[in-house]
Amino acid sequence: MTLLPQEIIARKRDGEVLSRDQIAGFIEGLTTGTVTDAQAAAFAMAVYFRNMEIDERVALTLAMRDSGTVLDWTGLNGPAIDKHSTGGVGDNVSLMLGPILAACGAYVPMISGRGLGHTGGTLDKFDAIEGYSTNPDIETFRKVVEKVGCAIIGQTDDLAPADRRLYAIRDVTATVENISLITASILSKKLAAGLDALILDVKTGSGAFMKTLEDSTDLANSLVTVANGAGMTTGALITDMNEPLASAAGNWLEVRNAIDFLTGAQRDERLLEVTLDLCAHGLVLGGLALDPDDGYLRAKVALESGAAAEKFASMVNALGGPSDIDGPRHDARHACPVVRDVFADEEGYVTAIDTRAVGMAVVVLGGGRTDPKAKIDHGVGFDQLLGLGARADSRTPIARIHARDAAIADDAEQRLKNAYRIGEAPKPNPVVYRYIEPTGNN
Ligand code: URA
Repeated sequence: MTLLPQEIIARKRDGEVLSRDQIAGFIEGLTTGTVTDAQAAAFAMAVYFRNMEIDERVALTLAMRDSGTVLDWTGLNGPAIDKHSTGGVGDNVSLMLGPILAACGAYVPMISGRGLGHTGGTLDKFDAIEGYSTNPDIETFRKVVEKVGCAIIGQTDDLAPADRRLYAIRDVTATVENISLITASILSKKLAAGLDALILDVKTGSGAFMKTLEDSTDLANSLVTVANGAGMTTGALITDMNEPLASAAGNWLEVRNAIDFLTGAQRDERLLEVTLDLCAHGLVLGGLALDPDDGYLRAKVALESGAAAEKFASMVNALGGPSDIDGPRHDARHACPVVRDVFADEEGYVTAIDTRAVGMAVVVLGGGRTDPKAKIDHGVGFDQLLGLGARADSRTPIARIHARDAAIADDAEQRLKNAYRIGEAPKPNPVVYRYIEPTGNN
C-alpha cells in the first residue's frame, strides 16, 4: 500500500520508524514536485523532534542520492577519494588536500559548497582565482579529474536535487540542526559524486557548528555509520576549531595561505597537522596506504617534493585559471585600500578565541554573506592571526586586517579584539581529538 505524504508525516510525527519504501516514496515526491513545500517542512520538523534510526537515515541518504545523477568513476587507475569538513574559520584544507591526494595516486572529484553563516566556503575561495571555473560542464569536470587527478568545483543542479529542495526548506523552517537530516544531506551529495572513500573532518569548538566534543562525536558516528551503511568506505577525524585553523581568514587571503603552504613559503603548524592527518586516513580508506603512518609519510613526501604544488597549479590552469597563480599580480588584484595591524588592549598570551566571532568579523568586512544571493568581496579578511598560546604585545598584533574602508575596518577591529581573550599562557588544545574508524557494511 502506498502511503500519502501526509500519512508518512503523521507516522513520523507519532514516533514510528519509517520503512525504506516510505522514505523513498516521500523523497520521490519531493523531487517530482508532488510533495508540497508545506509537507516537506512538516516532514523535516517531525524528523527534527522524533529523529531517525540508522536504517532510516541510510534510506533517506540513498533516496536523496538517487534523486539525480550519480557519477561513476570506474575505469580510473586509482580510487576516487574526497574529504568533507563540517565547516570552520580559516579552514582552507581542501585546497591542499585535493592536490596532495592526487599526487599520491588518488582521484579527487571534489564538489564543494559556499560559505554558510560564519564559516568560509571552498567555492568562494576558488571564485577568488581569476578565470577559474567553479561550474564547468560535467564532461570538463571528468576530464580534469582524469588528467590532473583532482578538480574542485561547485554543486551542479543535477546532483542530489532532493537535498537542494529540502535544505532550502529546512533553512527557513528552523530544521537545519538535526543529526539525521544533516547526515543525509551531507552524504547524499558525496554519494552522488560516486566516491570510493570519504574522510570526514568533523570540527569541534568555538568556531564549529558542534561546540562540544560529545555533539561532534555524535555527528561523526552518525556520518560514519550511515556512509558505510550506504556503501562508501568512510572514517572521521574530530579536529579542533577553538581557533582559526590557518593564520588567514578571508577568501583570497586563504588562497594565498594555501599557495604558500604548497610551495613551502610558509606553513601554519596546526593546519599542516590536520591536512596531513586527513590525507593519511584518506589514503588508507582508499587503499593507497597500508596504515595511517604510511599514509602520513606519502602525503608528506607529496607535499615536500613540490608534487602537490604542481597538481594545484595544473588544476587551476585546467579549469580556466592563470598559469602564474603564485605571481604578485594576483595579490595586487585583491589588494585592499585599508590594511592595518590590530593590537590587543593589554599584553599577554592568547587564552581563548571566540572563533565564530572571528568568522562573523570576516562577514562584516564583506567576505561572507548576509543574504544567500549577495556578492562577496574576495580580498577582505584577516591574516597573521595569532593562535592560542601566542604572545600579543605592543609589537605583535593579534592580526592584520584587510578592509575596503576605514569605518568597516573599525567595526571588524572591535569585533576581533572582543573575540580574543588575553591573559596567562593556556594549556594547548589537541589539534586532532580522535579518529572514528569505518563501521557497518564495509
Ligand atoms: N551542510 C549540508 O550540506 N547539509 C546540512 O544539512 C548541514 C550542513
